[in-house]
Formats: sequence, C-alpha cells, structure tokens
Amino acid sequence: MAPQLRLVLAILLIYLIGTPTSVLASLHPVVLVPGNTCGQLDARLTDEYEPPGPGCGVLKQGRGWFRLWENFTALQEDPSLFRCYADQLRLVYDPVAGDYRNVPGVETRVVSIGTTRSFRFDDPARKNVCMEALVEALEGVGYSEGVNLFGAPYDFRYAPAAPGLPSRVFSEFSSRLKLLIKVTSRRNGNKPVILVTHSIGGLFSMEFLDRTPLSWRRRFIKHLVMLCLGVGGSPLNMWPLASKTLAANPSSLQASVLTYGNRSFASMFSLLPSPNVYGNTPLVITRDRSYSAQDMADYLAAAGFSENVVARYRTRALPVTLGLRAPLVPMTSINGIGVPTVDKLVFWDGNFCGMPQLVNGDGDGQINVQTVLALQGLIGDDPEQPYFKSILIPNTTHKGMISDESALKRVVNEILRASAS
Ligand SMILES: *[C@@H]1O[C@H](CO)[C@@H](O)[C@H](O)[C@H]1NC(C)=O
Ligand SMILES: *[C@@H]1O[C@H](CO)[C@@H](O)[C@H](O)[C@H]1NC(C)=O
Ligand SMILES: *[C@@H]1O[C@H](CO)[C@@H](O)[C@H](O)[C@H]1NC(C)=O
Repeated sequence: MAPQLRLVLAILLIYLIGTPTSVLASLHPVVLVPGNTCGQLDARLTDEYEPPGPGCGVLKQGRGWFRLWENFTALQEDPSLFRCYADQLRLVYDPVAGDYRNVPGVETRVVSIGTTRSFRFDDPARKNVCMEALVEALEGVGYSEGVNLFGAPYDFRYAPAAPGLPSRVFSEFSSRLKLLIKVTSRRNGNKPVILVTHSIGGLFSMEFLDRTPLSWRRRFIKHLVMLCLGVGGSPLNMWPLASKTLAANPSSLQASVLTYGNRSFASMFSLLPSPNVYGNTPLVITRDRSYSAQDMADYLAAAGFSENVVARYRTRALPVTLGLRAPLVPMTSINGIGVPTVDKLVFWDGNFCGMPQLVNGDGDGQINVQTVLALQGLIGDDPEQPYFKSILIPNTTHKGMISDESALKRVVNEILRASAS
C-alpha cells in the first residue's frame, strides 16, 4: 500500500473511532457523584423576589442567570452580597405541594450537569473538597472527561424523601443520573458504569439505586465505589442544628451554607445519627438531660425547631435513614480511620449557642467508625449482595481520601480493579 494511502486510512480510522487507544477501550466508564456543597448553582431572580434589605437583588432582578453558589470573586469584590446570597439560597417548605422549594422569586439550576467541571471552585478554601484531584488522578490512568469520565453534581440543599412523598428535585436528579448512566454505557460499547461517590453523594446514589429496578441496576452498574460514608449519619451533624443564633450570625456564605442554609435545607436531616446505629447512646449531653438518636425529635425541639419541621424530620428524612438497603450491585466501600471524630457534644450548662465540649471517637473526622461498621453489617449480611469489600485507610481524613496522594492512589487502584473484574 502506498504510504500516503496508509496515512489517509489511519487518519480515517482515528476519525471514525474517535478515541483510538486500547486503554480507553478496556476501561469501564466512571460517573462521579461528589459530596455535600459540591454542585455549583446558578440563580435567576424574578419580580416576585422580596429582598431581605435594600441592595439585595434589586439590580439582578430580571437580569438573567448568575452564579449563586458560589462566586468567590464576586463575594470578594462586594462582601455585602453575602447576606443576599444567603437569603437566596434558603429553601422554604410548601405545604400544598408537600415539598421543599426555593424562596419565591428565586429560580436555580445546577451548573455543568453531567460533567466534572462543576467540581472546581475558584474559592481557595474549597480546594480538594469536591473530587477535583480524583478527576486528575483518573485522567492520569487514561480516563477522559466526556468520553468515559462524567460527573453528576446535584443541588445539595434538597434530599431524598421517604418513598411515596414528593421530592421533586431529588426525583429530577435521579432521572438525569439514570439517563447519564445509560448514555455513558451506550457510548462505551455497552459496558456497565462504575459509580464512584464521596460522602453524602453516596447516600444520594444508594437511594437512587434502591429506586431503580434490580434488572436495570445489574445491567448498567458495574460497581459502586463509595468513599467516606457509613450508614446512619454522624453525631457531628447535630452541631450546626444546635442553635438558631448560630445560624442567624454566620460569618461567611460558606458558614451559612454549612449551618444548613440557616436551618432551611431539606438535606440537613439526611445524615443525622440513626437510632438503628446509635440506639440510646447519649450524643448531646447537658446537665439536665441527654439526647440520643432515639430522642432526636426532642433534641430538634430543644434546638428551637417548630413542630412542623420536627414532623418533617420524622416523616421525610428518618424513614430514608432507617430504610437504607444493600445496593445489590458489586460494591467497595473505602473509609478513613484514625482521625479524631466527634462522638458526643457536651453543652453542660444547656446553652446550645455556646461552644460545646467535644468528645472524640474514631473515624475520618466526619464519619464515625460506628457507621462504617454498621454499613459492613448491613451490606455484608445481605445474602442477595453479590460482592462487597470494605477498606479502611489509616490516618486519612474525609477530605484526604480524595486529595492525599497515597489515598488517591488506593482509590484509583480500586476503581481500576473494579473495571478489570
Ligand atoms: C462571578 O462574578 C463576577 C462579577 O464579580 C463575574 O464577572 C463572573 O462572571 C462571575 N463568575 C461566574 C462563574 O459566574
Ligand atoms: C437566618 O435566619 C434568621 C431568622 O430566621 C434571620 O434573622 C437571619 O437574617 C438569617 N440569616 C441569613 C444569613 O439568611
Ligand atoms: C498522619 O498524617 C499526617 C498528615 O498527612 C502526618 O503528618 C502524620 O505523620 C501521619 N501519622 C501517622 C501515624 O501516620
């Protein structure tokens, strides 16, 4: 064959195949589901929006989409925006719809759906919180964004609700994730997809999987790799809910969001300690009484939540926590241990606005080893579960799991192992 013709054929072949390396052909595609606060949100204000004070939003009303969560640059330039953004990030509960929604006049959308681009924030404080180093590590072993590597950012303010109750935003996330997985598989030679989650992204993914038909799950999911999550929440998550006053005076947009959007987010109850795991162990202790996971409703009432909000914990969030089941697809769970992790909060004088004394146990700094053991029990004991491995990496924090070089190496190896299995 003439050399020119060979060249033309080679180019044509590359053009037709698109991604010519044999590595790509052998890898199972990966979809990443990041942790809390990792989906970036754009917002748009309508005339219906009532700003909390002058200057908030008036200029933006009717002006189209802007980055609400979060635009570090804009907040540096104009710190007064913080109050406005915090207000626009709040959720309200709509009793007619029986569901959470945005504040009237605020429309939101998740940025860069289906990609990992949304995991990169311009805020230096958020470096390494959202799987961006994992994306780079996967690219280092041959994965390629938009080809066999995708991201599933979501609106972290909302949460799955008990089966049968409306949770529009979670349902929409689930439909989009289902489509993403199907299309990804189709575009990768019908190979099933490896779902890799971090932190609360694991809860969203387990709920998502639980609500798909088993035949679909087994056709499209090669493996679930769940990082930094047990089952049954963490006592640490009781802290930001302790006091109204804490929520009313956050020092930054981040602090405001981390106190669960001024106690308005649906997701604030999603990782509260489960009675199944913590039973009647005292978790919040005062001189007069202590609160266990079984007393959560009393604790929330003592922390100033209204009866209606406490009822929503009981009817919407708690059944999800109690109902977690094995995903029935091959699964590897990887958690950090050996890091002091809040086990109990002591507000001895009963003042929930004060700084508690913290009693630490073992975990990754956020996820306690108890909930990891509970996960091992829940999944390991299910006779229908095909394959399950739990890996504990010593001296590894919640964030370190997706940013420390050695932990990342381990995580990537487990993904490659799942792909090759
Ligand atoms: C952030 O805000 C600045 C204005 O301060 C704007 O120029 C920029 O486009 C915004 N960034 C995004 C990602 O929207
Ligand atoms: C938080 O809520 C309190 C009362 O509900 C309100 O006074 C305060 O302005 C809110 N703070 C922010 C940052 O939205
Ligand atoms: C734990 O990790 C920290 C930070 O990565 C390191 O400085 C320390 O030496 C490690 N400790 C042990 C016991 O490995």
